[in-house]
Amino acid sequence: MRLNILITASEAVPFAKEGGLADVVGALPKYLEARGHDVRVVMPRYYKVDRERYQLRQLPGVLVVPMGIIGNMYCGVYQGTMPGSSVPIYFFEHEDFYGRDSLYERDNQGYLDNDNRFIFLSKASLELCKMLQFTPDLVHAHDWHTAAVPVLMNTWYRHDHHLAQAASLLTIHNMQHQGSFYEGAMDVLGIGWHHFTFLELEMDDQVNLLKGGIYHATMLNTVSEGYAREIQTPEYGWGLEDVVRQRSDVLSGILNGVDYHEWNPEEDRLLPANYSASDLSGKAICKGELQRALGLPQREDVPLIGMVSRLVKQKGIDVLAQALPRLLELDIQLVLLGAGEPWAHFYFGGIAADRPDRFACRIGYDNSLAHRIEAGCDFFLMPSAFEPCGLNQMYSMRYGTLPIVRATGGLDDSVQNYNAADRTGDGFKFWNLDAGALFDTVGWAVHTWYHDPEGIAVLRKNAMAKRFTWENAAEKYERLYLEGMRRKLGEERFQQVLAERSPKRKAPRRKSEACQPSA
Ligand code: ADP
Ligand code: GLC
Repeated sequence: MRLNILITASEAVPFAKEGGLADVVGALPKYLEARGHDVRVVMPRYYKVDRERYQLRQLPGVLVVPMGIIGNMYCGVYQGTMPGSSVPIYFFEHEDFYGRDSLYERDNQGYLDNDNRFIFLSKASLELCKMLQFTPDLVHAHDWHTAAVPVLMNTWYRHDHHLAQAASLLTIHNMQHQGSFYEGAMDVLGIGWHHFTFLELEMDDQVNLLKGGIYHATMLNTVSEGYAREIQTPEYGWGLEDVVRQRSDVLSGILNGVDYHEWNPEEDRLLPANYSASDLSGKAICKGELQRALGLPQREDVPLIGMVSRLVKQKGIDVLAQALPRLLELDIQLVLLGAGEPWAHFYFGGIAADRPDRFACRIGYDNSLAHRIEAGCDFFLMPSAFEPCGLNQMYSMRYGTLPIVRATGGLDDSVQNYNAADRTGDGFKFWNLDAGALFDTVGWAVHTWYHDPEGIAVLRKNAMAKRFTWENAAEKYERLYLEGMRRKLGEERFQQVLAERSPKRKAPRRKSEACQPSA
């Protein structure tokens, strides 16, 4: 059955990206379209979204967005197409809110008007349906930035011609960031203060948009099954575990897919040489080139470990920082690419200056280097404190670069620990979030590399054969959408809609008509 789906989010590849959220929003719509659905995507037109480069065209008219106590606000709408598909993507043009260099923050400080910026995005997404005369079956929101969408659908828009029948799905990519603001944001939402309760939007005297979304969404999911379980516990729930548990009947986990057009060592144009599982000679070239580019000694006989990450606590960089001096006593090489907290830039930069023979550090965002690290390394390190899904471990497996991960969330779900006894697995895992466990597991991996090359070859073969496809994930999202519709409409109406939408069966032809010899 063809569904009408509106996807609303704060970032999408290739237009604007801060993290894996953009990868997901950039990929999922294409695969939904391939399954026959009418999918539309909306996001802000940030300063960096180049209108010419993406051939965006302005839609006639102006979108009016009712911003509660602020009154009506207005924006232009640009339309483009998601590359590699014909999925339309709409951008909201609002110079004051989105005409800034970065998406969410400046100098590691969230913009002070992020509440208004993202309540605006949420409201504009729903207003756009009217402008386009688009009646979604389901609106799919992502993270706190558009978590107000399910709230608004159940309140302000509950009688709206285009939205009253629509179900909502909120995908939680990260529980830590909740969109928590001064209570005055209630007046901008404009849905009435009676929603500012402990059950719905209030949390520690603040408006918590994620909490509101969790309460109101028809369906909820996270980006791995493991994380869906974890966020129901105090350790991973960031204070919202009870709220999540209340809704556990509609909560599930769907592991993200990988865009294998982008991440494939056989075709990757960003690599100095391509390679496959059956011919790894190109991987050795990638390793040598990477060492050269980073100023590390060009040695084939040393294990090279890579890490590409936002440098924030979530990614376990404090634990890495603690373990690093000991790690660098081993005969290994390590490369770190990332940007984030200022202390990390200084700390890792300083160690790289001290140990240029073993440790290279590049601060910044560099997609080409990320690809070359995936290809050129022997191991890929992700010591995350929590990881809803994580994409790099999945990329690294495809590149034959064995992941060393902390067994949490999507890392635990996607990596199978090495079992030396029966030679199964595709990576190395540790459970405790401490420098000792990290050191021991890197030690184990490195020891295996030096002393059990056959074991490494088997692991590499397993990892390279593993696939996390978007086809698979999109099919699961489709099932979730249908379940959302069933819950929203009720069984009877849902069955009616199914019957109305399913392609009409042709009446059987009469015998005399059938098999007429052609003239
Ligand atoms: P998160 O979204 O929490 O940052 P993910 O693993 O889901 O983590 O996604 C991170 C994405 O961002 C990956 O595609 C990764 O390659 C990319 N990435 C992160 N930091 C950098 C960087 N410094 N340079 C290039 N790519 C990066
Ligand atoms: C978040 C999570 C990451 C996940 C990504 C995409 O940024 O931190 O684990 O892979 O979203 O879902």
